[in-house]
Amino acid sequence: MEPSRDEILKALEQVIDPELRRPVTELDMVRQVSIDGGDVAVTIALTVAGCPLRSSFEQQVAEVLAPVAGVERVSLDFDVMSPEEKAVLTTKLRGGVTERTKGISLDRSTRVIAVASGKGGVGKSTLSVNLAAASSRLGHRTGILDADVYGYSIPHMLGISQRPILVDKMIVPPVKGELKLMSIGFFLDENAPVMWRGPMLHRALEQFLSDVHWGELDTLIVDMPPGTGDVSISLGQLLPRAEAVIVTTPQPLAQEIAARAALMAQKTNMRLLGVVENMSGDVFGSGGGQELADDLHVSFLGSVPLDPALREAGDAGEPLVTTSPETPAAAAISKVADLIAETRREQGVGFVKALPVLS
Ligand SMILES: Nc1ncnc2c1ncn2[C@@H]1O[C@H](COP(=O)(O)OP(=O)(O)OP(=O)(O)O)[C@@H](O)[C@H]1O
Ligand SMILES: [Mg+2]
Repeated sequence: MEPSRDEILKALEQVIDPELRRPVTELDMVRQVSIDGGDVAVTIALTVAGCPLRSSFEQQVAEVLAPVAGVERVSLDFDVMSPEEKAVLTTKLRGGVTERTKGISLDRSTRVIAVASGKGGVGKSTLSVNLAAASSRLGHRTGILDADVYGYSIPHMLGISQRPILVDKMIVPPVKGELKLMSIGFFLDENAPVMWRGPMLHRALEQFLSDVHWGELDTLIVDMPPGTGDVSISLGQLLPRAEAVIVTTPQPLAQEIAARAALMAQKTNMRLLGVVENMSGDVFGSGGGQELADDLHVSFLGSVPLDPALREAGDAGEPLVTTSPETPAAAAISKVADLIAETRREQGVGFVKALPVLS
């Protein structure tokens, strides 16, 4: 018996584009299905020619077609979308909105957590990656934005080497498992760093943020640039309703950092959520985090011990929270993630007071 075309198309509805997170059938990516006895040949049109996700499609297509009655062999070919098809796809993904909106494209319900600190090297990126992994483990749809224009490190820490896909003018974040990643670093060209400075900065950031297609997210973790300079302020202003987690080491110049963090929060309208102390232990002591939290009148969210495994995991491209959740450092970070998640519940449904939008 020859397999039925309808059943094959029905089965292909289960093939999900790993980055766009929608069925290929819905995205009009199935270009051709030909059936010859038990041989089924499928052609899928990709958004870009060198798409690194081919193997994912191959695996999924083989998996979903295997149980279809009459299917004996499956082959998969790839084609590339035309510019017109990409434009249609972009419109579809934007929910029918053809014009680009200003500012970051996020649902009103997406929680934005900015990981910031008064100075560099305190572990913002390490915490961002692991908090994102912990949030993902809690079942939240999570994205991570590496916004450090001075030295982006998140792609490395997550072992993501594939570049974002450009569909029309929309930037699609690459994924690591369930986690979506966007890094300004993907767009830093050695010859054009000037774009991220001075008068161009705000516009460049705004453009970048509005072009990224996050899809549906519960939480977006933002690894902020160190310090409280222009970039942080500009960025903060472009992140709607962001809540800041301040990272500090065990012996901070608490008052100085508190003053800077408070100023940044004020200038950007961010709410200060709490303080995390990182690298605590015998070498650096502890207590500075609590002190800073007291100075800022915010919660102390916990301290993360100094543990070389955190750095090793980062170098290996796998967050420690994913590979060794039971280690004290990973457990401490997961606890911080739990506390952050709880603050949302406390704030309840009324947290984001959305006014009815008239259009
Ligand atoms: N708790 C920890 N235990 C051991 N090593 C850590 C810990 N937290 C961070 N590190 C290591 O410290 C170094 C700095 O951390 P990280 O890059 O996350 O800091 P950062 O604040 O993002 O720095 P920058 O300001 O340069 O962006 C990294 O090598 C990281 O692996
Ligand atoms: Mg960093």
